[in-house]
Amino acid sequence: MIAKRAAEMTSFIVMDVLEKAHEMERQGIDIIHLEVGEPDFDTPQCIKDAAEKALKDGHTHYTHSLGMIELREAICEYYSNTYAVTIDPDQIIVTSGTSPAMFMLFSTLLEENDEVIISDPHYACYPNFIKFLKGTPVTVAVYEDDGFQYRTAAIKEKISKKTKGIFINSPSNPTGNLLSAERMQKIAQLSPYIISDEIYHGLVYGDKEHSIFEFTDRAFVFNGFSKLYAMTGFRLGYVIAPKPFIRPMQKIQQNFFISANAMVQMAGIAALKYAHNDVTAMKNTYDQRRKYIIKRLREIGFGITKEPTGAFYVFANAKHLGLDSYKLAFEILENAHVGVTPGIDFGQNGEGYIRFSYANSLENIKEGMRRIEAYLKIRA
Ligand SMILES: Cc1ncc(COP(=O)(O)O)c(C=O)c1O
Repeated sequence: MIAKRAAEMTSFIVMDVLEKAHEMERQGIDIIHLEVGEPDFDTPQCIKDAAEKALKDGHTHYTHSLGMIELREAICEYYSNTYAVTIDPDQIIVTSGTSPAMFMLFSTLLEENDEVIISDPHYACYPNFIKFLKGTPVTVAVYEDDGFQYRTAAIKEKISKKTKGIFINSPSNPTGNLLSAERMQKIAQLSPYIISDEIYHGLVYGDKEHSIFEFTDRAFVFNGFSKLYAMTGFRLGYVIAPKPFIRPMQKIQQNFFISANAMVQMAGIAALKYAHNDVTAMKNTYDQRRKYIIKRLREIGFGITKEPTGAFYVFANAKHLGLDSYKLAFEILENAHVGVTPGIDFGQNGEGYIRFSYANSLENIKEGMRRIEAYLKIRA
């Protein structure tokens, strides 16, 4: 009854943890959420005001299928100011979050059985997009002692005639680590297109992230407003692509999605123009939490070889607690009442790790660490 492509889709395990946590909360149990991959901050006021004003001003209709020109121009300005790269507004399609942008790009790029290289571990949804659109994800293992960075030699070994793209994600979900400029430069010189998910750009602490466009134009960029501007529920993102790909993707947008939400696009313009101070404040707070959680996780016995300097995740080695990260995550939830995400959610090579999100208050993180420490002391 159910089509194969839908039946074969794997669930997002973090959602299983979250659902179990919600069930426990309904029974009156207090849970600390360190599993969730979204900012705990309220959306900055200037963004909410712009959305409200847009609604009052009648921005309640379809927009251009590529997105409002003012927003596309603001995105170009942002890339120019941040990375000194030149992007034309006609290279951008504004979408309802980066997720539909991934759907549109892989629909345009992949013939049946074409391959896309992804790191292992990787953001859980990448292989599902690729497989759903009849491509084949090919994994390249990345390792803790190397800061979970790609090795160019390992990528080269996996490139075949069918390789259409190499997916990079820096800062990365789940590892919180960055790809160095040197490695990006080398990867950019390989022949397939580079597909760069830049959604965690801006959330970088004492380090510097790079856009793939600093190294090559043979690239696609996904970016969005969910993380940096705490706008997950607005659903706003975009894809930047070489011009020949825009028209085919635009047709997919027109047929399947028509346009991104008009008032949300107005909010996106405000985010890019006026939310700088709010972003700085959120970033400073994330950084405080990051330092604290790394210190405490190490004290409790988790392994963190290279300190993560981006996004809001720590991917901690928990192999001393047994290899089954799925079981361990549920064990921690049920006994310590702390939600965490099992590494296996992010690929085979993520097994033995636990992802901790510090998108929660310092007070809650402190309590979460206290609970986990207490539980692990009495664990058999
Ligand atoms: C690496 C990565 N890419 C994309 C997304 C999806 O973002 P959006 O809300 O823009 O669809 C997420 C969300 O967790 C993510 O972690």
